[in-house]
Amino acid sequence: MNDTPRNPGSGDAGNQSAVNPDMAALHDASIDVSPQVQTRLAAVMNVARYHGVEMNPETLRLRPEDPSPTPPMLIDWLREAGLWARGVPMNFRQLTKIEDPAPIVLLLDDGGAALVVGRDREKHVLYLRDPRGGLHDPAVAVDELRLKQVWSGATLLVRASRNGVGEETVFNLALLAKMVWSDKLILRDIAISSITLTLLSLVPILVVMRTIGTVLQFHSTSTLNLVILLLIVAVIFEALLSWGRKLMEVILAAKLDARLNLMIFDRLLSLPIEFFERQQAGVITSKIVQVGKVRDFLTGKLMNTFIDLFMLSILLPLLFYINATLAWTVLIAASLIAAIIAVFLRPLGLMTGRIISAEAGKGSVLVESIYGIRTVKALALESTRSADWDRRVAEVAELHVEQSRLANWPATLSMPLQRYCSYGAITLGAYIALHTNNPVDAASLTGFMLLGGRVAGPLVSMTGLLEDVQNAQAAIGQVGEVLNRPNEKYALTHGLRPRFEGAIEFDDVTFKYEGAKTAALDKMSFKIPAGTMLGLVGRSGSGKSTITRLLQGINRDYSGAIKIDGNDMREINLRHIRKNFGMVLQDNFLFRGSVRDNIIAGRPGLSFEDAVRAARLAGAEEFIERLPNGYDTFIQEGSPNLSGGQKQRLAIARALISDPKVLIMDEATSALDPESEALVNANILRIGKGRTMVIVSHRLSSLLDCDLIMVLDRGRTMDIGTHYELVERCAIYRHLWFQQNRHLSPEGSDNAATKPVLTQGH
Ligand SMILES: Nc1ncnc2c1ncn2[C@@H]1O[C@H](COP(=O)(O)OP(=O)(O)OP(=O)(O)O)[C@@H](O)[C@H]1O
Ligand SMILES: [Mg+2]
Repeated sequence: MNDTPRNPGSGDAGNQSAVNPDMAALHDASIDVSPQVQTRLAAVMNVARYHGVEMNPETLRLRPEDPSPTPPMLIDWLREAGLWARGVPMNFRQLTKIEDPAPIVLLLDDGGAALVVGRDREKHVLYLRDPRGGLHDPAVAVDELRLKQVWSGATLLVRASRNGVGEETVFNLALLAKMVWSDKLILRDIAISSITLTLLSLVPILVVMRTIGTVLQFHSTSTLNLVILLLIVAVIFEALLSWGRKLMEVILAAKLDARLNLMIFDRLLSLPIEFFERQQAGVITSKIVQVGKVRDFLTGKLMNTFIDLFMLSILLPLLFYINATLAWTVLIAASLIAAIIAVFLRPLGLMTGRIISAEAGKGSVLVESIYGIRTVKALALESTRSADWDRRVAEVAELHVEQSRLANWPATLSMPLQRYCSYGAITLGAYIALHTNNPVDAASLTGFMLLGGRVAGPLVSMTGLLEDVQNAQAAIGQVGEVLNRPNEKYALTHGLRPRFEGAIEFDDVTFKYEGAKTAALDKMSFKIPAGTMLGLVGRSGSGKSTITRLLQGINRDYSGAIKIDGNDMREINLRHIRKNFGMVLQDNFLFRGSVRDNIIAGRPGLSFEDAVRAARLAGAEEFIERLPNGYDTFIQEGSPNLSGGQKQRLAIARALISDPKVLIMDEATSALDPESEALVNANILRIGKGRTMVIVSHRLSSLLDCDLIMVLDRGRTMDIGTHYELVERCAIYRHLWFQQNRHLSPEGSDNAATKPVLTQGH
């Protein structure tokens, strides 16, 4: 190992590759860039490796017109790889103060980079390392003056991502409250305007109450004018303020909405596929939309309740000040109202729960019918579906009526009490004034009439709050049922990101689907070197697709170990695996958009040329060019303008565009007509060049080119070998082969099929 620090730019890449793996990687990726850029990339890769992430320079995809990676590009690249990265301006002093021993990337003025690997505060120096040098090169001590000559502050900070930890927070009321609370400033403004509004709404009442007697008694027009002026000012002010408050509430709600939506979608997409396979889309959707109710509650009713509480805290003392006896009666009446409502809360809450689940059921019938419309029409199931829909609609409607009937009770029962608060109290006041020598003046009575009614409102809405909390909690429960499931977030953001070669090993893998009685894979062990083309055959249900699912990390709770290039798959980052493994299924979903967009599928940095190359390899070029607009032909939802074979070839092209090291094809050609199948099969050797292929197929003839074929039965490996070996020695394989190729059967055309060869295997 070379011990002297290297001079950036000196020495050829081939020589360096023996010393520094990054250089080798850059060389492999045939990135033809200046030494400065190489230094920059090497620095980033060095730091990433320090945090356990292996960066692949191919994923940076430098463009010829943009040969030098800008700091934002580097940051995106790092973030894409699951690291935390930020560009910040720093100075020498700040750098010396950092305690963290992790290396820091300095972006030098000449386009290169250096790594800060240590610091000596007493000597006032930083230890820098040339990222292009060997891993064991000594660091160079640099003082402030020297650093200033080559660096003006651009710094890249990189850390292991803590994404996973933050995301594991449970979706509940507290989390939502925290979200609302993060807009403290708006909340404060709303609170201030609300309090002012409350006070303003009391002003006219108090003014009228105190002055009306004087005005009438002394015929004082000037006082009346003054009162009118005061009232007008108060009203205008109130109008302006309530306009402002409404606006702030809307902003708050919109902000919360945006935040919630982002979080929900992010979480939803990080749920494992298993979850979506088990749950109906309609049920998931209807549960998720419940979040709207929670938002309304948080930004509407909850906030209003606080305002009501404030209103009460002013009103009640005021009423007691005016007349204690009357105030007591009003308070008692209002409390009775609250009690009545409290009694009905639970039954109403239960009813709401029933309505929610009935609506979820209704929603899922609708979604399912639309989703499966082809089957519905093909099997003439319209009437059955309609009947089902009718039943669900009726059920929901009935429940709504029942709920309204129930909700009517507390409203009806509390009405007389509410009226007492407004009119009853003054009648009582008048009675008291007439029959006792308790002095109650007219002004007080007017005051009671105007204010008393306002006590009941807040009290009732506060009791209603209990119900709202219950509803909101029910809604949160529904949303939480989806979002609080164990998700893949951790596996998606953590773990190794090695460069794959494609060697696959199953070591004693046993896997059982949830709820299944027997294992789908039973102590399966096999090993294939990188670059192998492996065919999987076996009867339906023998576990072929399960192997491909485990390889994709769709199901992860297996026992035993799956190793990719010797690394346990559980330790490898899940997103990294899925990005690097191509997958083509029997039925592939194409997105709305052009043919080109579908092949590129939103992967950054890929060009039209890449799409054409992939299409050619997949045997799709020929038909794409015959489409009305070639690569720009628009594919509709469900791709009705493409045939099955064409769709399939597009899917293969889409899988190939990122040049995956492992390509899995599960019955990818089964739905194709013989001609398209022949086209794909003719290309399969070219497709398989330089990568490991796992091909599941019922048609054994399409597996003839495979290096190895594995025969499965009931989740077990029965045999593994080449076609000729298997025909010789594996009974199951021989049976399948001669069944499909009767003309080749050694015992004449029909015998092979009728002869019970299968039983010989066990
Ligand atoms: N999502 C699932 N949930 C529960 N059990 C499943 C699930 N998928 C497959 N199975 C079961 O696991 C076993 C293996 O299924 P798998 O799909 O791997 O078979 P396969 O060999 O691909 O069959 P086919 O040739 O019909 O596609 C079967 O017995 C099947 O019933
Ligand atoms: Mg299958």
